[in-house]
Amino acid sequence: MELRVKRAPRIDAEITVPGDKSISHRAVIIAALSNGVCTLTGFLPSETCMLTVQALRALGIKIEQPEPEMLIVHGNRRQLTAPRAEINCGNSATTMRLLAGLLAGQGFDSRLVGGAGLSTRPMDRVITPLQQMGANIVAEGPNNTAPLRIQRAQLDGIQYRSPIASSQVKSAVLLAGLFAKGKTTVEDAGITRNHTELMLNYFLVRTVKEERGAIGIFGEQVPESRDFTIPGDISSAAFWLVAAAAQPGGHLLVRHSGLNDTRTAFLGVLIRMGAQVREAVEDVDQIEPRGTVEITGAPLKGTVIQGREIPQLIDELPILAVAGALASGTTIIRHAQELRVKETDRIAALAHNLRVMGAQVIELNDGLEIHGRSPLRGGRIASFGDHRIAMAFAVAALFADGETVIQDADCIRESYPGFEKALDEIMNPKRMRASTPVIGSLSPARGEEDEE
Ligand code: S3P
Repeated sequence: MELRVKRAPRIDAEITVPGDKSISHRAVIIAALSNGVCTLTGFLPSETCMLTVQALRALGIKIEQPEPEMLIVHGNRRQLTAPRAEINCGNSATTMRLLAGLLAGQGFDSRLVGGAGLSTRPMDRVITPLQQMGANIVAEGPNNTAPLRIQRAQLDGIQYRSPIASSQVKSAVLLAGLFAKGKTTVEDAGITRNHTELMLNYFLVRTVKEERGAIGIFGEQVPESRDFTIPGDISSAAFWLVAAAAQPGGHLLVRHSGLNDTRTAFLGVLIRMGAQVREAVEDVDQIEPRGTVEITGAPLKGTVIQGREIPQLIDELPILAVAGALASGTTIIRHAQELRVKETDRIAALAHNLRVMGAQVIELNDGLEIHGRSPLRGGRIASFGDHRIAMAFAVAALFADGETVIQDADCIRESYPGFEKALDEIMNPKRMRASTPVIGSLSPARGEEDEE
């Protein structure tokens, strides 16, 4: 599929986004382990999340889907059954890494396979801690890549300090810890999304906060079945938030979005770049904060994105690089070498595509240096099979002369099935809104607490 995009009219819109991808994976996995029926609403029916659903069905869990965004999960008190065939994780690293943790301590063998893209991505990051717990897990691909062969094993709790900041690693260890003897503790190398810990707590599994942000979990706990509504994916909203931020006078409201603060660091970056951002958390009843984000655009200026901030906005870096190209001055992204092992080498893909559109970019080993405000021109853009590259350049195209063609845009479905429809709404606003601020004195403007 090709996506054709032209320069945007003035953006003044109110949108919602589909369910959060990371939370959808975790909710269905933990519900499957629970002691009863759980109804999940707002589930993201993307290709990647459906791979996790299919994997759990292959492990004997009954999961009904009366509507695309609703799952009825029949939890089976942690009893999984041996899969009859290998489990296909497609292009979903979250599925493969979380399932590796889940399956490491079972009383049966399993094999996790991935598509061509996933089969080049590093799996040693989960294999190492799982082996330390006593798992019988090996990578069959070259250099510790998929397929993963997992044989029955009994796990013991460990204390693990991850050398990389990765929520997928933390989550794999915590899920394995649920099936291990004693206590398992995992410390991340940075602040990463905390959805696994929160979701375990929501399902009444006890975790302990240890020093330096480490999380401890005791094995042998059975999650208590509960219903859960997944909030909108702030990482999907980020594409439209940047589009509005980069358009002086642009105005966008995103309703019912997840507002977990391990995911919203990019809003702080947009404030540094000059946009006005307000967020109002309206509900925390179901443990994951959710609410409204409002953004008003401005002439953006360049910034430096590095260090501790990186793991907290790792998925927003492609669209922030586009923001850098639209900003005056220089934007530098450093310490982001993890981008090289995402769905594609995102540093190389961003440098390549930004240049195709006329931007000035220097590729660094661990990031990018972008000299902004060169006029962008439309062209043919390769997605490299990466959903976030495709969407980032669809937004760049809203600021370019002429038409831009995003090639191989089908991958967008991996995280944002309604993207094209949302693009259509941005391009043809049916309901014009006044650009006066909507979120008033109810909540502090972000940024007051955000300066570092
Ligand atoms: C994810 C974690 C991140 C992120 C990915 C989803 C998750 O990966 O890039 O899109 O759901 O745990 P890492 O934890 O490897 O950084």
